[in-house]
Formats: sequence, structure tokens, C-alpha cells
Amino acid sequence: MADVLTELVYSSRTPEPMTDAQVQALLEHSREKNTREGVTGLLCYDGKSFLQIIEGESGTILELFHLIRNDPRHTDIEILHDGEVEQRAFDSWKMAYENVPSGMLPSLARSIARASLTAAMAGKTEMDISAGRRIFDLFMDEIYGGGEEPRELADA
Ligand SMILES: Cc1cc2nc3c(=O)[nH]c(=O)nc-3n(C[C@H](O)[C@H](O)[C@H](O)COP(=O)(O)O)c2cc1C
Repeated sequence: MADVLTELVYSSRTPEPMTDAQVQALLEHSREKNTREGVTGLLCYDGKSFLQIIEGESGTILELFHLIRNDPRHTDIEILHDGEVEQRAFDSWKMAYENVPSGMLPSLARSIARASLTAAMAGKTEMDISAGRRIFDLFMDEIYGGGEEPRELADA
């Protein structure tokens, strides 16, 4: 039987701002590997901080996160949410990428952490609305103005 589907959301900081080329190299390798491993999600960067959601089978996510958290390209890794989901929010995206305006990530991180804590206090491993769904909806509203079908920003 396949492992349960899980989502993990974390934030981190880069010691120095990463260049576009460095981010591209990171994305290229990640997308290739995520395709092989059945991992989907979104990576946001504002020049200082990352916020990433990874979705996949729990064993795969655990192994991947072990690598990510030991990656010297970022520090101060903070898990904002880790739990089961019924379905993926970033189904067709091997790793979507958004360069976001600075200031957006801390409030997004706080709202995910708050929702995760509320679910945990209610004894649930799953949020009422998954973290992925929240992030997905927020990005559709904030970045695409709502309604619009996302372009393949992700895999460009
Ligand atoms: C912010 C950040 C996000 C990352 N996201 C992913 C990812 O989604 N998938 C992935 O395979 N590696 C990701 N990595 C890279 C991993 O830390 C690690 O370098 C890579 O998985 C190792 O690949 P390898 O097993 O081919 O050596 C990320 C690294 C950073 C710094």
C-alpha cells in the first residue's frame, strides 16, 4: 500500500541573497528529482527568505526534507506545518516558483503556523483546509488577481 499523502511547509533564510542563476540551478535540479520522486509543491523567495511547500508520500517527504534542512544554501529552517492531506494542491507542478514582494512571506508563514496549531490543538493531523490549498488560493488571488488560470510559471 502506498504511504499516506503528506504536505510539509517550512520557512528559511538565505545568508546572502541568491542570484537568479543560483535559484534557477536549484529549481532545475529540484524539478528533475521531484518528477522522479512524485513530489509537487511551490517555492517562494523574496530575496531574503524562502517559504516552500512539498507534497508527496510521507516517506519521500521525510527523506527529502532531511536533505533540504541540511542544505547549506539556507539557514533558520522553521517547520510551519506537517500533516496529512487527501489530495495535492499543486498537483501538476513539480515545483512552482514565485519571486514574491518582500514582506509577504512572514505574514503567510504566520497564518500557516497558526492554522497548523489550531488543527493540532483540535487533535487533527489534517487541517480543515490544507496548507497547500491556503497557499494556492492566496497566490491565485495575490499574484494572478484571482480567476485566472495559472500559467506554467512553474515549469518555464
Ligand atoms: C530552498 C531549497 C529548496 C529545495 N527544494 C528541493 C526540492 O523541492 N526537491 C529536491 O529534490 N531538492 C530540493 N532542494 C535541494 C536539496 O536540499 C538537495 O540539495 C537535493 O535534493 C540533493 O539532490 P541529490 O540527491 O540529487 O544530490 C532544495 C534546496 C533548497 C535550499
